[in-house]
Amino acid sequence: MKVLVATEKPFAAIAVEGIRAEIEGAGHTFTLLEKYTDRAQLLAATADADALIVRSDIVGADVFAAAPGLKIVVRAGAGYDNIDLAAATAAGAIVENTPGQNSNAVAELVFGMAVMAARNNFGGTSGFELRDKTLGLQAFGQVGRNVARIAAGFGMKVSAYDPFCPDSVMEEAGVRPVHDLSRLYSENRFVSIHIPATPQTVGSIGRGLIELMPKGGVLINTARKEVMDEAGLAEALEARPDLKYFADVRPSCADTLTERFGDRVFFTPKKTGAQTAEANINAGLAAAAQVVAFFNDGTDRFRVN
Ligand code: 3PG
Repeated sequence: MKVLVATEKPFAAIAVEGIRAEIEGAGHTFTLLEKYTDRAQLLAATADADALIVRSDIVGADVFAAAPGLKIVVRAGAGYDNIDLAAATAAGAIVENTPGQNSNAVAELVFGMAVMAARNNFGGTSGFELRDKTLGLQAFGQVGRNVARIAAGFGMKVSAYDPFCPDSVMEEAGVRPVHDLSRLYSENRFVSIHIPATPQTVGSIGRGLIELMPKGGVLINTARKEVMDEAGLAEALEARPDLKYFADVRPSCADTLTERFGDRVFFTPKKTGAQTAEANINAGLAAAAQVVAFFNDGTDRFRVN
């Protein structure tokens, strides 16, 4: 079988070598397309592939049309909003993700951003400490749980809102369950967003929620830019000069926000939460192992379509 790893944003070299070893060790053919700049390159490389491993690369109907032999697509990561599941299913291909494999990396970045915001972007003016501050997690999945674990070390008081997670799971982690999203925003100095982009969540965080935040509130988004109502975000930042918005997921209107709000906003130039050697190895090797297992005996434990 031919397995293509197609990553516009490449994995660390050590992860690529691990993936290669796993694929070739199982007797399959490994091919690699990195840093492609043109969609035609992706379509050409995928054309004779049996399996495809990607990151945030867009896998749309065009890919399935160009690759009639494609049997499995594995998103080496958590969010699979970049993959057209309906097109995959129609083409008879299965789609999997690798949940949890890069969540510590994302969680650590949350604290990079929290400290940066608390220390006024390291500009030398007097900031504040994270200890004893309140932190609200919007969703208590794999990333949220890692954020809670690290927050305990900082001495923060952590709450979480997640209608899909039992209170007992939060309580066992020392996290206070909150059953009302408005309260999560109104009661926490920091709010960290960990929801996926779905039809229900897209555009769901806007002025109404953000303006509920207490004085000096910091909103951190390492999830997806699509969950923000960007016009509402700009209105909230305008109305509340004490608020900050730091995001790993550069908004569509990033330049305008930076121009208007300066150091009160910060955006990574490219999504960087999972961009560590460890996360690349964990997610990349898990993806390779899942492809190999699928070709061995049809195992599809992480199937999402
Ligand atoms: C994920 O959904 O796993 C993260 O957003 C990481 O995405 P990336 O692989 O494009 O860095």
